[in-house]
Amino acid sequence: MPIKTIIEPFRIKSVEPIRWTTRDQREQLLRAAHYNQFLLEADDVLIDLLTDSGTGAMSTRQWGAVMEGDESYAGSRSFIRFRDSIQDIYGYRHVIPTHQGRAAERILFSVMVKKGQIVPNNTHFDTTRANLEYVGGVALDLVIPEGRQPGLKHPFKGNMDVAALQEVIGREGKEKIPLVMLTVTNNSGGGQPVSMENVRQVSTLCRKSGIPLYFDACRFAENAYFIKLRESGYESKTPKDIAREMFALGEGCTMSAKKDGLANIGGFLCTNDDALAHQEKNLLILTEGFPTYGGLAGRDLEAVAVGLQEALEEDYLKYRIASTAYLGNHISEFGVPIVQPPGGHAIYIDARAFVPQIPLEQFPGVALANELYLEGGIRSVEIGTLMFDKEAKMDLVRLAIPRRTYTQSHIDYVIEVILEVWKKREGIRGLKLTHEQRFLRHFTARFEPIV
Ligand SMILES: Cc1ncc(COP(=O)(O)O)c(C=O)c1O
Repeated sequence: MPIKTIIEPFRIKSVEPIRWTTRDQREQLLRAAHYNQFLLEADDVLIDLLTDSGTGAMSTRQWGAVMEGDESYAGSRSFIRFRDSIQDIYGYRHVIPTHQGRAAERILFSVMVKKGQIVPNNTHFDTTRANLEYVGGVALDLVIPEGRQPGLKHPFKGNMDVAALQEVIGREGKEKIPLVMLTVTNNSGGGQPVSMENVRQVSTLCRKSGIPLYFDACRFAENAYFIKLRESGYESKTPKDIAREMFALGEGCTMSAKKDGLANIGGFLCTNDDALAHQEKNLLILTEGFPTYGGLAGRDLEAVAVGLQEALEEDYLKYRIASTAYLGNHISEFGVPIVQPPGGHAIYIDARAFVPQIPLEQFPGVALANELYLEGGIRSVEIGTLMFDKEAKMDLVRLAIPRRTYTQSHIDYVIEVILEVWKKREGIRGLKLTHEQRFLRHFTARFEPIV
């Protein structure tokens, strides 16, 4: 009989201790952090599922490459390896390194978007939306209606609503829409993939309308693997071939290498447009650095060059997608409402359904996330009313799984904690917002519990 258990496709060579705290200590710590888990110290967290961004474990090959880092200011060997690795997968003419994804977004929007112009996306991530709004652009989320219904199963809930996009392009015209974006996978919509068919339709429409299509490519490898698993015609293609086919349908991308670059820091911006690349590199020099390092050390460029290729290895992707689903399927079996089906990098608990007694203005997602911390020292993050204010279509608690970092017993522990909180859900109360900033308020917001 074939063996069914999917194991971590690695051995552990170096360990990092994690620290237990008592419930009393966690109550004090959370109060001191103004009930905002971004303000906790990481040492006071047992299992940190705040983000999968930059929190993964690097491989021996990546650490080996780090030692090869060429720290030359201009023309470094490490940049050549970084660029070649990216072009091997993405195929775009210009590769502009940045310190992380949001720097690529800022540069892209500063160069391409004028005040009042609209950028449609399946769902803008928080930094994408904020950077766009910062230059006066309008962020329009056009995910398919299925993508807004947490409990509904659909293989490609990250897909763009092509009819809605067509309508917007018809109404506003090319002059008002400098670019269209597709976020793969769709982080704010539950880590849900976009199908190749959808990418093709969006690409055809954009090319016909003379509007460039850019990818927010952070989790492109996970998206490629979902296509392999779920879309007919792709079963026997490699994730790399699928990724190449997808990128060929666009004109460029922004990328946070802290996700499917398997690195702790890094990002890049790609484009096929020579004139744009020229302006983007000038802006890069102003704030990030020379175009052959863009705010990164040579060793970081090396780690990304290797990480991007490792993220496309099938053994890794199989384990990655299966282990995320393991968490989602176990809690959902006991009735915990989650975004279905489980996403690639995270499980999203539907807080509106978990704690229906908490009105939206009392932040059900933040209240639930705090309860998980109090119960078992697990840190997660709200993606909902706090993060997106009135734009929030759902209130989710995201449990993001750092890559190659936690074992199955860590995840079994997380499952047990969530099920304990599920039993006590009726007693969970909301929060009052006492302090907020204009942009990205979730990072620094302060709360008081409502008693
Ligand atoms: C879809 C998406 N876009 C952009 C970003 C921003 O990347 P960074 O955190 O590297 O700035 C993220 C980060 O989580 C993301 O998930």
